[in-house]
Amino acid sequence: MANYQDALKHPIFEIISNASAELGIESYVIGGFVRDYLLKRDFKKDIDIVAAGSGIDLALKASELIPKKPKVQVFKNFGTAMFRFQDTDIEFVGARKESYSEDSRKPFVESGSLTDDQNRRDFTINALAISLNPHDYGQLVDPFDGIKDLEDKIIRTPLDADITYSDDPLRMLRGIRFATQLGFDIEKDSFDAISRNKDRINIISGERIAEELNKILACDKPSVGFLLLEQSGLLQIILPELTALKGVDESEGHTHKDNFYHTLEVVDNICKNTDDLWLRWSALLHDIGKAPTKRHHKKNGWSFHGHEFVGGKMAKKIFERLHMPLNQKMKFVQKMVSMSSRPIVLAQEEVTDSAVRRLVFDAGDDVDALMTLCSADITTKNPKKFRRYHENFDLVRKKIIEVEERDRVRNFQPPVTGEEIMERFGLGPSREVGVLKEAIKEAILEGEIQNDYEAAFSFLVEKAKKMGIEVKH
Ligand code: CTP
Repeated sequence: MANYQDALKHPIFEIISNASAELGIESYVIGGFVRDYLLKRDFKKDIDIVAAGSGIDLALKASELIPKKPKVQVFKNFGTAMFRFQDTDIEFVGARKESYSEDSRKPFVESGSLTDDQNRRDFTINALAISLNPHDYGQLVDPFDGIKDLEDKIIRTPLDADITYSDDPLRMLRGIRFATQLGFDIEKDSFDAISRNKDRINIISGERIAEELNKILACDKPSVGFLLLEQSGLLQIILPELTALKGVDESEGHTHKDNFYHTLEVVDNICKNTDDLWLRWSALLHDIGKAPTKRHHKKNGWSFHGHEFVGGKMAKKIFERLHMPLNQKMKFVQKMVSMSSRPIVLAQEEVTDSAVRRLVFDAGDDVDALMTLCSADITTKNPKKFRRYHENFDLVRKKIIEVEERDRVRNFQPPVTGEEIMERFGLGPSREVGVLKEAIKEAILEGEIQNDYEAAFSFLVEKAKKMGIEVKH
């Protein structure tokens, strides 16, 4: 077996090696660190150590050998411990033979050898271990030919896939995520077993599912993962709103596009222009309202009336179901989904100043993100249409800048406040005050008056007069 001492440059390895020699227990670095080293991927500041003995004892001993002794966190129930050293999380676990209860991810842990431990890991490429023991320091331990799978770009479970997945169903998602991240194929048996075990995903918490979906969305081409999720049947369970977009209906010669494949194209498109996870989520969910709003009309063909608004509401439900943050991030996604057709509609017609002003007013600081989403939404295969939409979008973008410089409606503050209206016209809090304020806003958005105090005030006096209200002083 090859020696990989070169992988062990981080000073923690020598410390752990000394600690295991003192305790007389063997230790290995295993999992993502080894995989990523061999793939020459960036080091993720996370090192997993497995001990053929107590992982907790090894962590405590290693920490004692560090001059500025780090604080060790011990998780007794799981037989694991961790500390932070030089910006890196060092996690320790005792080698185990695991068996999991049917309805939970919490394992019954029984200690075992390194081989037992490697057997119970998710994929061959994650089961590679490098020895930290003085007598064979740097030796690779690779019982399943994980090295070959790395070279051949294959995701494969070490044991029978049914066992590996039923031990921990999250692994089905992890496999698809690794395939997307690394550009690997999932070996046939390991993939087929996902379809057979897909219902077991129901015992996994929303948070953990969302974490994997986030990682798929962070990839360059998330469609790879979403197609695998769809083919395995997992997507139907975790995001049925997306699979509901599948298919093309035909009625009286009218068809509509397959909104599932369209959505995946939009997601891949947007990834070229933004790393923002929430904007990527917006692309994924931008059309979900189309399934429940789909109607066929004899004359006009298919329509999805109000799908943006319905989709925004559905996005919130998805965030709740997956225990994702229900904060500004969710509100942002909801806003993007519910405004997702606005720039397109605008670009289909003549791009007027007032329409652009309204767009900027409604989208506020998110107008640029919305434009990024809508550009990604242009997936027409008709080159003429494609060019026309993009040209119109460039025009919208230019106008956004112009309108913004001139009218400053992005974070609109009324130039005359409600208090001043009440004071100048001797009004108490009333409907009239609201009507006057709204009239000023409308006049600015329509371009009838400038967005400044002078213009707004003279407009206000005129408008009030028509309503039979006079200035007091
Ligand atoms: N592991 C596993 N089954 C899981 C999760 C993890 O067998 N459901 C094992 C794998 O050997 C994995 C290691 O634990 O390599 C560490 O897991 P984790 O830190 O979650 O993943 P990494 O492989 O390090 O990769 P990433 O950081 O990209 O998630």
